[in-house]
Amino acid sequence: MALGRRVKNLQSSIRGSQIIAAIGIGVAIGCVFAFLFPHGFFSTNQLTKVRHVSDSNSEVDAASCESTEKIDLLKSDIRRLSDKNAALKRQVRELNEKMRLAEQGNQQAHDQVKVLNEPHKAGPFGTVKSLRTNPTVVPDETVNPRLAKILAKVAVRKEIIVALANSNVREMLELWFTYIKKAKIPNYLVVALDDEILEFCKANDVPVYQRDRDESVDAIGKGGGNHAVSGLKFRILREFMQLGYSVLLSDVDIIFLQNPFDHLHRDSDVESMSDGHNNMTAYGFNDVFDEPAMGWARYAHTMRIWVFNSGFFYIRPTVPSIELLDRVAGRLAREASAWDQAVFNEELFFPSHPGYIGLHASKRTMDFYLFMNSKVLFKTVRKDATLKKIRPVIVHVNYHPDKYPRMKAIVEFYLNGKQDALDPFPDGSQ
Ligand SMILES: *[C@@H]1O[C@H](CO)[C@@H](O)[C@H](O)[C@H]1NC(C)=O
Repeated sequence: MALGRRVKNLQSSIRGSQIIAAIGIGVAIGCVFAFLFPHGFFSTNQLTKVRHVSDSNSEVDAASCESTEKIDLLKSDIRRLSDKNAALKRQVRELNEKMRLAEQGNQQAHDQVKVLNEPHKAGPFGTVKSLRTNPTVVPDETVNPRLAKILAKVAVRKEIIVALANSNVREMLELWFTYIKKAKIPNYLVVALDDEILEFCKANDVPVYQRDRDESVDAIGKGGGNHAVSGLKFRILREFMQLGYSVLLSDVDIIFLQNPFDHLHRDSDVESMSDGHNNMTAYGFNDVFDEPAMGWARYAHTMRIWVFNSGFFYIRPTVPSIELLDRVAGRLAREASAWDQAVFNEELFFPSHPGYIGLHASKRTMDFYLFMNSKVLFKTVRKDATLKKIRPVIVHVNYHPDKYPRMKAIVEFYLNGKQDALDPFPDGSQ
C-alpha cells in the first residue's frame, strides 16, 4: 500500500512537474507572442473601430432627433440674424441718408441748426418766431450737368421761371414768352416736351431745354394730356431743386405784366398763387358747419382755404420742397385718376394723423390781386373802378376754357390801354 501510494505520489509528482513544465512552456510561448504581437492577434484598432461605429450608430440614433431640433434652432437663428442684418442695413441706409441731408445745409442751415441746437429760452410775449424759411440744399451738379450749364447761364440769383410745353400749346406759349420778354424778364426757360417746341423756341430766341430721351417720362410728355404732363412736371422740377435753383413754375396760359421776382417773399418752401377770389377764400377762413340736430353744439367749425394753384408757384430748393415733389409725383404715378392740383394741396395741407405722416413744408399764398386768376379778373376786377387800376404781376387764365382769346384781351386791357377789351367775355364759361 505504502509503495503503491509512493508510486502514485511519484506518478503525481511527475504529472505535477509535467504540468509545471507545460505551464512554463505556455508562459514562455505567451511571452514570445506577447513580444511579437504586442496588440494581440486581432487588431484592437478594428475592434475599437467597430465599437466606435456601433457607438456612433447609437449616437446617431439618439442624436438624430436632437440634431433636427438643433438645425431648426440654427435655422431660426440664421433667420433672426439675417432679419437683424437687414434691419441694420436699413438703419445704415437711413443714417447715410440723414447724413447726406444734413450735409446739404448751407451756411444758413448751419446757423439755423446752431440756433436750434442751442437751448433757448422763449423770448418775451409776441417776440418768438418759429422757423419757416428752411435751409436750401447743397447743389449737386452731377444730377444733370447739361441742365446745370443752361441754368448757370439763364438763371438770375439762382432763380428761374420754368414752363413745360408740347406742341398742343404752341400758340399760348408764344403769347407767354412774348410778354415775358416785354416785361424784360431774362430768367425763364421752356422745357420742350417735343422737337417742334424745341425748334420753335430756338427760332424765337427763347431759352429752351429738352430732356434726354427717357421712355417712361417722354411717353407722358409727348402724347400726354394736361394731367399727364402735370405729373411729369413734378419729376422734372426735382432736378432744378437738386441743382440748387428756386423755380417759379408757370403754366403757359399766363400773361406776365411785371417781373414776378420783384414781388416774391421767399420766406416759405412753397409760395403759390391761389384759386381763391377774395381774402377769405384765398387766405383761409373759419367755415361754420351747422348741424341743428346737435342742439347746443349745432355749430362745428371747419378750416377752409381755396386750393393753391399748381400751375403757378414759387418753390425753394429745400428738403421739404423736394419731399413735396416726390410725394406728388409718387401719388400721381400710383393713382391713375388723381388730379395733380388736388394731390399737391393735400400733401401740402393735411396734417399727420394715424397711418399718415404729413409734410412739414412752409407755405405762403401770393397776393391774389397781384398774382391774379381769371375768375378774380372777370368776376370782380374788371367791374371795379379801383381794382381796375391795379396792375397785376401776372394773370392766369385758369378758370376759362377760351384761354387764347382771353389772354389776348388781357394784353389789350393792361398793356395797350384798351379799357373795353375785357367786356365781350362772360364772367364764367358758357
Ligand atoms: C383784404 O385783406 C387786405 C390785407 O390783408 C385788406 O387790406 C383788405 O381791406 C381786405 N379786404 C376786405 C374786403 O376785407
